[in-house]
Amino acid sequence: MRPPDEKILVLDYGSQYTQLIARAMRELGAYCEIHPHDISPQALDRFAPRGVILSGGPESALEENAPRVADFVLARGVPVLGVCYGMQALAAQLGGELRRSPRREYGPAAIVRRADSALLDAAFAGERALPVWMSHGDEIVRVPPGFSVLAQSDGAAGAPAAMADAGRKLFGLQFHPEVSHTRNGREILSHFAREICGMRCEWTAPNFAEAAAEDIRRRVGDEKVLLALSGGVDSAVAAALLHRAIGENLVCVLVDTGLMRLGEVREVREVFAERFGMELTVAEAAERFFAALRGVEDPEEKRRRIGRAFIEVFEERARTAGAGASWLAQGTIYPDVVESAKAASGKAAAIKTHHNVGGLPERLNLKLLEPLRELFKDEVRRLGTLLGLPDSLLHRHPFPGPGLAVRIPGEVTPERAEIARRADAIFMEELRMSGNDSAVAQAFAVLLPVRSVGVMGDFRTYENAVCLRAVTTTDFMTADWARLPDDVLARASSRIVNEVAGVNRVVYDITSKPPATVEWE
Ligand code: XMP
Repeated sequence: MRPPDEKILVLDYGSQYTQLIARAMRELGAYCEIHPHDISPQALDRFAPRGVILSGGPESALEENAPRVADFVLARGVPVLGVCYGMQALAAQLGGELRRSPRREYGPAAIVRRADSALLDAAFAGERALPVWMSHGDEIVRVPPGFSVLAQSDGAAGAPAAMADAGRKLFGLQFHPEVSHTRNGREILSHFAREICGMRCEWTAPNFAEAAAEDIRRRVGDEKVLLALSGGVDSAVAAALLHRAIGENLVCVLVDTGLMRLGEVREVREVFAERFGMELTVAEAAERFFAALRGVEDPEEKRRRIGRAFIEVFEERARTAGAGASWLAQGTIYPDVVESAKAASGKAAAIKTHHNVGGLPERLNLKLLEPLRELFKDEVRRLGTLLGLPDSLLHRHPFPGPGLAVRIPGEVTPERAEIARRADAIFMEELRMSGNDSAVAQAFAVLLPVRSVGVMGDFRTYENAVCLRAVTTTDFMTADWARLPDDVLARASSRIVNEVAGVNRVVYDITSKPPATVEWE
């Protein structure tokens, strides 16, 4: 699909939050793309942004080799908003003064107003202080000539927290307006897009369906397309879209790894084969995956082995079910594109390997088709609704590619997978029945690698412990544990112990991310 004419460019200096900026802008109706901070002048010309946002990043602008804001970016004359590192880079380059902060600020903080400014008015909404999210080690001592300080950190001698040179349309924010903990951060980004960059903000992701289907038909013609369905939202929407575009020239393969949720394979079959009438092959490969995982305890090694087994099974099926196909479609969405670009450039500090399978198109000698490449998750869901996919499929909680394997610390066996799967299904059912499943962003059960003593009837037991995990989050970068009602936890616990053989204890995970992660592995 062709992007619209009015665009915002986000230059990425490596922050964990860069994608959130782009997503927030798109939700405001401003089309936005992320490019590396060392974008070429030609690429900048081609992109022709209405405004530029400089992201945060892990480096210190005080270092000699710190990444810069290219002169041709500033010379373009479009509004520039520096966020966190972006602000510091602007300050350092334009004649301001920075220092290593004696007190690094990570997390919630408050800022106070120093001057009237339309940029921050709506965010302050008449209050004296604004709660914001900070994440920096350096601070600005003096803003560059031509800039005024709009807000400062609360407290005596607070460092500049927002600065502007309205004449040159250059702005800086020390805090992160894109993170939900910053109150009214969206108002600041909206003001920047609409009032400062003059965007009409009409990218509302409504009727992608026809435009996207037309685009696929034009590229693919009469050729056959092969797609791996996983039960997840992205591949499901890609399948529905491709089916709308090219009908029976789409061939879907579902690899049943034995590590999927209870009933998942059946549901995929029902929706895609029965309801949509798609050609769907299910490769039943559980044994193969368990064999690959035998004796393996290291989480990253598990991911690698699952990725490898998946490729092998899929390759075999591609030769039979997908014979004659010229294309391999993947449900890659925009955050994946950005993450892979970062990983390839070595700029992202990968906390976990999330890219579960790669290199398939080359191995299969197929052309790659990624019809959802420009879309964020919420846009993908809206498209899915438009294409007639059921809500149960579109709004399901995320499920990791390696499946239950990362929810079974230690060795994964068919028996342990079955325990984890059953416990998970009971927990999810209790959440659904109590109306709590949409209130949490993700919930699941983890089968712990410990056994403990219990008593059932007249017998002493020595069985497994299951941990329930439920989190609230909008972006999965940070998350809080969900304050679920006691009675829901109580019912889930007693049902799991009673109905899942091999479990005699249930605990609830009350750790946020950070310092923990959402998954246990
Ligand atoms: P963490 O555990 O890193 O998880 O806080 C953040 C989100 O990513 C999901 N996740 C994965 N997804 N392959 C995936 O496709 C993986 O290996 C993987 N590990 C974690 C996790 O479920 C959560 O939604």
